[in-house]
Amino acid sequence: MTLLAIENLTVTYRGLRAVSGVSLALQEHRIHGLIGPNGAGKTSLLNAVCGFVPLTAGRIVMTGREIQSLPAHRIAAAGIGRTFQQAEMLADQTILANVMTGAYAHRRSNFLQNLLGTRAKRRAERETRADAEAMLAAFDLLALKDEIAVNLPFGTQKKVDLARALMARPRVLMLDEPISGMNDVEARAVIEACRRITRERGVTLLVIEHNMHVIMDLAETIHVLHHGEMIAEGTPSEVQGNPLVVEAYLGPSDADA
Ligand SMILES: Nc1ncnc2c1ncn2[C@@H]1O[C@H](COP(=O)(O)OP(=O)(O)OP(=O)(O)O)[C@@H](O)[C@H]1O
Ligand SMILES: [Mg+2]
Repeated sequence: MTLLAIENLTVTYRGLRAVSGVSLALQEHRIHGLIGPNGAGKTSLLNAVCGFVPLTAGRIVMTGREIQSLPAHRIAAAGIGRTFQQAEMLADQTILANVMTGAYAHRRSNFLQNLLGTRAKRRAERETRADAEAMLAAFDLLALKDEIAVNLPFGTQKKVDLARALMARPRVLMLDEPISGMNDVEARAVIEACRRITRERGVTLLVIEHNMHVIMDLAETIHVLHHGEMIAEGTPSEVQGNPLVVEAYLGPSDADA
């Protein structure tokens, strides 16, 4: 079943077309890969779906409902989560505080609790804290919970960002280069976590990744962007054998030049 449909999406920055008429359908409980050379438009596509940049044209439909004109926090509340290529932390806050912020798309009653007073608020805060600690434990980060985010290595910040995004209990989670900055051991753990997230929580993933071995092994369906256009889609082996994809990465062969 299609959970999220992106239809004819175009994103333009002051005249530059970063994404050009792209359509892409995410199937529930699947792991999708989004690849393409630097500047292909991958992050722009993700930003547009999440309401972080305006779209010039197109529709985005989540479980039958159009969401492209909603603000970012309502798109998050509709079940779409994301992580950031640059890990975007609250730099001067602890890891625990950063992960707790992820719950706010999920706990919509927060505003009301603030009005109603402290007891309900304190209980909600306690529950969120316990959830966040469990999430940190799942990523082997619990020992670092009181560390200030900015002091941690980039790879660790990326893991914190993933834990934060999961706190919102998304149905669709879009990961922008989730293993960049990690050593092999950390990267393998995060890839395994991606599989587990899909299997156990039923989350549908869209993973942007430059490491071909990793993404071909992880994703069941691959979508390839080049100069803002979708040039290929299919299984990993279909995509790897596609001459347009080979050319996008390696440039035209001598025979064509
Ligand atoms: N905020 C912005 N303002 C102007 N141009 C932008 C902005 N963000 C991205 N671009 C341009 O849009 C194009 C697509 O960039 P985008 O970051 O979406 O690519 P990407 O596929 O994520 O690349 P990478 O693999 O390097 O992360 C590039 O030409 C980039 O320079
Ligand atoms: Mg990018």
